[in-house]
Amino acid sequence: MTFSPELEARLAKLLASYPAGQERSALVPMLLYAQDEVGRITPELVAEVARRLRLQPAQVEEVASYYSMLRQRAAGKHHIQICTNISCLLMGGGELFEHACRCLGIGNKEVTADGKFSIEEVECLGACSWAPALQVNYDYHHGVTPEKFDQLLEVLRQAE
Ligand code: FES
Repeated sequence: MTFSPELEARLAKLLASYPAGQERSALVPMLLYAQDEVGRITPELVAEVARRLRLQPAQVEEVASYYSMLRQRAAGKHHIQICTNISCLLMGGGELFEHACRCLGIGNKEVTADGKFSIEEVECLGACSWAPALQVNYDYHHGVTPEKFDQLLEVLRQAE
């Protein structure tokens, strides 16, 4: 399996940040970076990462299937993760999630027909003080009301 030169450079920098012999500790970020390019965790990707880290594919598969942010199915171009854990729930996160599903016409872990948006109900994003919080790819948005969500969606649509 071949990766883009950009991803190869990113992986090389990542691996160089670990002490010699400890490269396997880079497994999760390596899978995340590769997922950004490939779109999802495929069997080929598991095998490639295993080869590079001198692990068995089953060891990589175990980790890949444990973390919810590592996806077996491709997400939309804009992957919207809405927290409905306790702080966000108390501040309207549940209603925000339902509003977002209605706006996009999809349910949890589904992708719009054009592939541009996907939505996922998630546990704590670590932004409890600014609840309700959501994340679009790697960008955080805090204190999101349904009205602010509509504005965000418009910005994302116009950026296409
Ligand atoms: S509970 Fe939502 S970010 Fe922590």
